[in-house]
Amino acid sequence: LLGVFFIVLCRYLNIYLSYSVQEELKRGSVIGNIAKDLGLEVGRLSARKARVDMEGSDRQYCGINLRNGDLLVADRIDREEHCGEKPSCVLKFDLLLENPLELHRLNLQVQDVNDNAPVFPKDIIKLEIRESAVKGARYRINAAQDADIGKNSVESYILQQNPHFVFSIQTTSAGSKYGELVLDKELDREEQQEMKLLLTAVDGGSPQRSGTVVIHVIVLDANDNAPVFTEAVYTAALPENSPLKTKVIIVSATDADEGVNGEVTYEFSRLSDKSQKLFSLDEKTGEISVTGDIDYEEGSKYEVFVEAKDGYGLSSEAKVIIDVTDVNDNAPVLYLKSLSNPIPENSSPGTQVGIINVQDRDSENNRQVRCSIQQNVPFKLVPSIKNYYSLVTTGQLDRELVSDYNITITATDEGSPPLSSSKTVELSVADINDNTPVFEEQSYSAYVTENNKPGSTLCSVTARDPDWRQNGTVIYSLLAGEVNGAPVSSYLSVNGDTGVIHAVRSFDYEQFRSFKVHVMARDNGSPPLSSNVTISVFISDVNDNSPQILYPAPEGNSFMTELVPKAAHGGSLVSKVIAVDADSGQNAWLSYHIVKSTDPGLFTIGLHSGEIRTQRDISESDSMKQNLIVAVKDNGQPSLSATCSMYLLISDNLAEVKPRLLFDGAVAIPSAYLPPNYADVDGTGTLRSTYNYDAYLTTGSRTSDFKFVTSYNDNTLPADQTLKKSLTDFADAFGDCDTSPEVGKAVKSFYTYFYYCRFTLVQ
Ligand SMILES: *[C@@H]1O[C@H](CO)[C@@H](O)[C@H](O)[C@H]1NC(C)=O
Ligand SMILES: *[C@@H]1O[C@H](CO)[C@@H](O)[C@H](O)[C@H]1NC(C)=O
Ligand SMILES: *[C@@H]1O[C@H](CO)[C@@H](O)[C@H](O)[C@H]1NC(C)=O
Repeated sequence: LLGVFFIVLCRYLNIYLSYSVQEELKRGSVIGNIAKDLGLEVGRLSARKARVDMEGSDRQYCGINLRNGDLLVADRIDREEHCGEKPSCVLKFDLLLENPLELHRLNLQVQDVNDNAPVFPKDIIKLEIRESAVKGARYRINAAQDADIGKNSVESYILQQNPHFVFSIQTTSAGSKYGELVLDKELDREEQQEMKLLLTAVDGGSPQRSGTVVIHVIVLDANDNAPVFTEAVYTAALPENSPLKTKVIIVSATDADEGVNGEVTYEFSRLSDKSQKLFSLDEKTGEISVTGDIDYEEGSKYEVFVEAKDGYGLSSEAKVIIDVTDVNDNAPVLYLKSLSNPIPENSSPGTQVGIINVQDRDSENNRQVRCSIQQNVPFKLVPSIKNYYSLVTTGQLDRELVSDYNITITATDEGSPPLSSSKTVELSVADINDNTPVFEEQSYSAYVTENNKPGSTLCSVTARDPDWRQNGTVIYSLLAGEVNGAPVSSYLSVNGDTGVIHAVRSFDYEQFRSFKVHVMARDNGSPPLSSNVTISVFISDVNDNSPQILYPAPEGNSFMTELVPKAAHGGSLVSKVIAVDADSGQNAWLSYHIVKSTDPGLFTIGLHSGEIRTQRDISESDSMKQNLIVAVKDNGQPSLSATCSMYLLISDNLAEVKPRLLFDGAVAIPSAYLPPNYADVDGTGTLRSTYNYDAYLTTGSRTSDFKFVTSYNDNTLPADQTLKKSLTDFADAFGDCDTSPEVGKAVKSFYTYFYYCRFTLVQ
């Protein structure tokens, strides 16, 4: 709490700095060092945007060297322009620092340098003097003006050496100086009718400057009195903006003389350039009237000198003070002194974004100003120091909702009627990477028919990120992962820019029917934000696999012989064609047909079971050797088929046939032909996936290139002869003919397949 209090105090701490500088110094001259005088860290001046602004002016007279804190002259400073005749010339500046806002008053005392020479109002002064004038007579000479002040202004006058006059300096009751020509030796018109005397005014500056006037003396015959003003000092009040020709005041002087000698005329004797443009004096009536724009803010007080002169040129002078009164004619002016633009959208509420300064050139109530800010923007004005306001945020900004603000600030003064003005501050909100890309869908599904072309488009994903530029630029990529042990990138690719997903390879329904991958959408912010989505790819089957006949071995590879007992009756099951199809559904729904046989009337085959049965009882006349050619077709469009030959031996005696013959036809089926499952073919009389998997697991031959399946059908043999045969018996049987390692494997496979067949057929 204490800390906060201290900071608040600090913010409003107002230090008055005072510097002194000569007018007319060249740009870059060092006035002082504000860093040292305020105890500021030099390194922070730049970050704190230190600056000096002159009150009520846009001109930058002073600057700060942000590297070392030097206060510098930035523009010509002319003392006479700012302060005129004022004996002291102080320019007021605001020294502004931000983060936190700090304001210091800086007074710059401008010292006069002798850059102006004395100037007489006219080049020639005409003076008409009667020859009867006595020694000591005095004639007023209007003083020379020097815009400088103090010792740089007029110090003395030097009158050209002459036999008749000397020069004397006088001071009026109003404090102004004038000179008098004093007659030292009487004039004689007959001796000299006129004379010209050079009067030089010199100032006290160094180097000294001077100005001259010629006094033209005309010697007359008669005597005369000088005019006398009714007042030594006249004062008039004049509202600003008074129209042209407005009467300001009438000055009046009387002359004791009669006739032409008493005729008084008026003229301005001393008049600043400024006054000259504003006022005129009626030579005859002494009326001062307005001839220019009377602006209180340009000048609130004018002093002019009026000379009254009679017909002989005798004159006197009076001072006229014109006080201009203020009218509420200046609307307040809003200055944007600082603006952090753009402002990051994550700025916390209360962040200062700008500094507003309001000024009203009027005075008193007319310059009292209230500031307000438009409604419905998340900003407010916090009165700071003097006529400064901080523009601060009042809530959380969100660039994605509002990216630009036009904040209108209105200032109204308390004049009557009040005047107001407004200023619109354009403020942009800068982006922060605060939005994660969001996919348009919770998840995506892609459907593809197997055997697709590599590179074909599967689907496309889209994620939106409302952030700006790279913060909202979405890049798509596949998340690393595996499908069936291979990297996902070998299956799919995603176009990083468009989110279009392509197949990298051709898919095989028989290998897998579906898989999932994850696609990530990442923006290009730093740090980036990302999200991911699941894409399920479903592969549909085409009839691209022919039925695969497992038993008997395909034609050409080998041949096997089934024993058919002579006593078999019609309807006896004698063998079975076992086939599988790696496709699914209709594509794997198999049917069996006998396309050729030795005796067409003897055997039939179950359309869907593949079971071969006798149609009638076997008779002695039937040939011992019977051959069948069986076609297995699937139900795909178009249908694929395979054929096999079946050799049947009608005999009761196993001894008639050597074992060798029986097992010679080991069927070699490359593992690739064996799909991972056959579930769909269940019920068609062929394989079941469970058994098949079992077979794989049992044989341990998954990794081998070949799978040897030895077919055997126990139904065609007496049960004891089959089931009692051990693996070694078969191995022995094989051993008789071949002892290669493949044969060992084949034996194992045979054993497995033996059981497989058994289960299938028994069930
Ligand atoms: C703000 O003002 C500018 C200039 O008048 C205009 O072009 C811009 O569209 C305004 N922006 C908003 C957000 O109103
Ligand atoms: C993106 O956001 C970061 C902050 O998260 C910001 O610094 C950057 O300027 C932003 N980029 C753009 C182009 O707006
Ligand atoms: C994917 O998204 C989930 C939930 O949105 C998140 O838990 C997971 O970390 C993300 N994975 C990656 C690699 O970005």
